[in-house]
Amino acid sequence: MTFGTLPQTNEVLAMQPSEKYLFKHKGNYFQPDLVTAEYIDSLEDFEIRDSDVFLVTYPKSGTIWSQNILSLIHHEGHRDGTEDTDLLDRVPFLEYNIRNMDFDKRPSPRLFSSHLPYYLVPKGLRNGRAKIIYVARNPKDVMISFYHFSKCAVKFEEVEDFGVFMERFLSGKVLDSLWLDHIEGWCAHRGDFNILFLTYEEMKKDLGSAVLKICNFLGKRLSEEELADVVEKAGFDKMKMDRRTNYTTLSTDILDFSKGTFLRKGTVGDWKNTMTVAQSERFDSVFKERMDKLPFKFCWDINDEL
Ligand code: A3P
Repeated sequence: MTFGTLPQTNEVLAMQPSEKYLFKHKGNYFQPDLVTAEYIDSLEDFEIRDSDVFLVTYPKSGTIWSQNILSLIHHEGHRDGTEDTDLLDRVPFLEYNIRNMDFDKRPSPRLFSSHLPYYLVPKGLRNGRAKIIYVARNPKDVMISFYHFSKCAVKFEEVEDFGVFMERFLSGKVLDSLWLDHIEGWCAHRGDFNILFLTYEEMKKDLGSAVLKICNFLGKRLSEEELADVVEKAGFDKMKMDRRTNYTTLSTDILDFSKGTFLRKGTVGDWKNTMTVAQSERFDSVFKERMDKLPFKFCWDINDEL
């Protein structure tokens, strides 16, 4: 900044996040305590099997929910309650290998989660055989969920003032960078991958149809009874009560559960409870033009038509 020129208020609010909390590598922000730039680079050559299934999301878009659905579809022992395996072991994050798993030794079909932008995923995913499910959520609800999550994520910078957090979100100075870049990148390059797009809102409105869509994409045939079981066990209240499906097994070095929970509200339109009209308008002024070009109809309220 040169002397005599005052920065825009919004620029000040969105100031660079401290390197203690986030580091930027190849255009994307990562959490320094969980991953290194070298590990991210090594993923380019990570060996992909044709049977692999990747769940890709921008943070706070329904990752844990979709992880649970994938696990329930694939594992009878999860459905009937005979297996006591945590979601983080069933559908581990590729880039955040917090349990130090040997991914090469995992039996097929391997299920993975990832928040990576399209250009940082293993190149083997581009042969179009392994499957990717991308779940998107309306970005106002994503931002509110992110804001609350920042309070219980121990290694996140706690930004108390929501206005400041919003400017960070709008300028992509948060974990996994700009929501628009993430979703635009995956949409624009969908032809390079074998990918199914779903939205959090369609899952919320009709979970049964969303589960069926996922099963069809994965080539998994479940009986009516099994499908009903998946839908029942993927319900918000069920997941919140089940320690295998709510991340409460995560180390308290990562999440402080006295400050919040992973399954918080699980609704569509919660942004209206926090954002002022002026904040919502500011959000639209930054996001709307690019969002209008996305191949999704976003739903901002639970009563909106999809
Ligand atoms: P809220 O904070 O708005 O409640 P992610 O797993 O990508 O971090 O996303 C977390 C968000 O998904 C949280 O949103 C959480 O409550 C919501 N969520 C998790 N499981 C859900 C479920 N079964 N039904 C609806 N929402 C769910």
